[in-house]
Amino acid sequence: MSLWKGRITGPMDASMERLNKSLPVDIRLLPQDAAVNRAWMAELVRLGILTDEEHDALDAELTNILREFEDHKFDPHALPDEDVHSLIERLLTERVGPAGAKIHSGRSRNDQVATDFRLFLRDACDEAAERVASLMTALLDVAECHVETVMVGYTHLQPALPMTLAFDLCSFASELARDRSRFADARRRLNECPLGSGSFAGSGVAVDRQVLATSLGFDRPTVNALDGVSSRDAALEYMTAAAICQTTLSRRAEDGIIRASREFGHHKLPDATSTGSSMMPQKRNPDGLELVRAKAATILGRTTGMLATLKGLPTAYGKDLQEDKAAAFEVHDALMLCLDVTATHFAGVTYNAEAMAASIPTECAATDFADALVRTGLPFRQAHERVAGLIEDAEKSGKRLEDYSPEELAEHLQLPIEECRWTPQKSISARAVVGGTAPEAVKAQIATLRGMISS
Ligand code: ARG
Repeated sequence: MSLWKGRITGPMDASMERLNKSLPVDIRLLPQDAAVNRAWMAELVRLGILTDEEHDALDAELTNILREFEDHKFDPHALPDEDVHSLIERLLTERVGPAGAKIHSGRSRNDQVATDFRLFLRDACDEAAERVASLMTALLDVAECHVETVMVGYTHLQPALPMTLAFDLCSFASELARDRSRFADARRRLNECPLGSGSFAGSGVAVDRQVLATSLGFDRPTVNALDGVSSRDAALEYMTAAAICQTTLSRRAEDGIIRASREFGHHKLPDATSTGSSMMPQKRNPDGLELVRAKAATILGRTTGMLATLKGLPTAYGKDLQEDKAAAFEVHDALMLCLDVTATHFAGVTYNAEAMAASIPTECAATDFADALVRTGLPFRQAHERVAGLIEDAEKSGKRLEDYSPEELAEHLQLPIEECRWTPQKSISARAVVGGTAPEAVKAQIATLRGMISS
């Protein structure tokens, strides 16, 4: 059932019909389209195009349609309509009569879909920001219990320096704080209303675009009608923010997968986000984290696809733009699920504090020894060389640093003996600068991050 039968009289090819039909995807925008219809109807009444009675009949029918949608009464595959806009217009016309046929006065599906989509994206930004905040809270709750739990920190996946588990979790949460703010930024920019742009040149009916914008909760109308219907950077901003956020999740998922391996043994995966093997009874697999990692690829692909769709498109509406919604919906759904699974995962991990402490090789003392030498007045470059020499000698004689007594270390390094009684805890406490891994510094980070969540 199409809205444009006047010009094209022959039947549409069945495969074209399937390619053209977006209803199975965009039926999800039915609540947004109903809201847009309502805002538009109010303007049509003001302009004398619809009577009050017609308005009220259409309004009541929109309520029915919304209820049927919520009760899953519409099967988009069985319905004959091309898209959600045609569906609503057909139902209103069939059920209310000629008033339904007036509703498209001065309007195009181009400005309608652009407006519906922005309403969706606005909610998507809010929902994403909220779920990122929940994940941050879950991480900080765990961090609070582990400001003294020591573990090894890596660079290049080589043991580097001791750190605390809370410090590591705070690094995740502080990255998420930025991810969250990207959704808020995107929301601020996208909150402009394209309705009243018509097909691209501005509606020929003298609607008040400021009134339309305000009634739909937008800050203002879009500045230019052609831009309003052509651009999809609002979707791109949401999707790129989602791609960055999902990349954050994916890297942390990778950390979690590695650390749950038998070789690391730092933590046990929670039942809630793990699976067993159909063949090997001993298995506990990190499927939740692996899927989070994989969805990063999906989101990145969808976002790249959207950029590719837009980059060669002539200005104004092209049907290519119909593909935008499936892409944004998939991105949004994947991100929401992954944020939830990641929060559940981190809240449920059992940490093995002993194994984590044991994973810190004494070679991690090297930087602290060099720092101690600097405190004696030795230039850092020479201090670095002296400690590297010690490690090299140890390796040559098949020894580890823990095989040396503090006295031997003091002699080799020419350091006061006190400086040679190294422990991971001492190393950690020495890093009390703002943002450091010392317990006091991490407690301050937790407080700062909690403050960011509630602001
Ligand atoms: N279903 C279309 C979409 O999603 C609606 C806009 C159609 N506009 C048009 N000029 N054919 O983009």
